[in-house]
Amino acid sequence: MRFEKHVFICANQKAEGKPCCGEERGMELVKKFKQVLRDKGLQGKIRAQRAGCLDACEFGPALVIYPEGTYYGHVTTADVERIVEQHLLNNKVVTELELKY
Ligand code: FES
Repeated sequence: MRFEKHVFICANQKAEGKPCCGEERGMELVKKFKQVLRDKGLQGKIRAQRAGCLDACEFGPALVIYPEGTYYGHVTTADVERIVEQHLLNNKVVTELELKY
């Protein structure tokens, strides 16, 4: 496997009025994840990138982490450090943000 963990962050923009994560909010999260991963020297092990719709639109901004397939919703930039520390580095799901499917 190329990366130990792979974070896909929705930056999908739908037409006005439809529930969605939104490009602006999604890209804010992508930038923050990339910055935290870079600061911690994790770029070669863990990848974060933008994604299209993850079918969790009403819970946006949403993201999914593989290989676990854990979905998170209502994520803000303030949550990124915790997701990196707790989930990506210590394999503990951040239960308050987890979307149960
Ligand atoms: S628009 Fe983000 S999950 Fe659908």
